[in-house]
Amino acid sequence: MSEKKLCQILEWFSDAGVSDITADISLSCSETQKEAFTLRDLKEMIAKVDTPLRNCALNMVFGTGNENAEILLLGEAPGAEEDRQGVPFVGQSGQLLDKILAAVGLDRTKVYITNILPWRPPGNRTPTNQEIELFRPYVLRHISLINPQVVICLGGTATKALLQTTQGIMQLRGVWTKIDKISAKILPTFHPAYLLRSPSQKREVWLDFLNAIDLL
Ligand code: URA
Repeated sequence: MSEKKLCQILEWFSDAGVSDITADISLSCSETQKEAFTLRDLKEMIAKVDTPLRNCALNMVFGTGNENAEILLLGEAPGAEEDRQGVPFVGQSGQLLDKILAAVGLDRTKVYITNILPWRPPGNRTPTNQEIELFRPYVLRHISLINPQVVICLGGTATKALLQTTQGIMQLRGVWTKIDKISAKILPTFHPAYLLRSPSQKREVWLDFLNAIDLL
């Protein structure tokens, strides 16, 4: 449920003279969902998460782009350049992502971009299951605060983390999915880093982006 809708419901109860509804609602929310009501709050909360990843990284990488976007792009974790600049997808993969966006008439002012992990894993290793579990509630909250209509998961790690599935990206790519915690429809596609190694798959990603735009 969006915050706007929740506020409307609370106002309705309040007008009707009900004063203790918040207790029931908070029971269905995790601490993260309960406390971060703005992106700024969420960013501050994530900055305080106790994880060794913080010790190796230069900068936290939160999110970038249009906070009212209808499309949210979810990557895996910052790489070296993202770690240096504190901005998602600004390295080689990011340059390709910009080209993909341009090919479908989009750019960074029209979408929102974030990652499963806010800190670069040492040596760009794949995030561990433990790291994914630690940050998943924050990712869900991040998505809820942006409230997009579509989440495009870039690559297998983002897809597995969001959908909590063991199925691989080859099976899931291009298949629309939903999960309980967020209202957006989810479309997994290949990661730009994979496309740098396998350029013949670019067409599939282009089609996925067009498919996402069609839905809006
Ligand atoms: N790869 C990702 O998944 N995210 C980034 O921000 C950069 C590279």
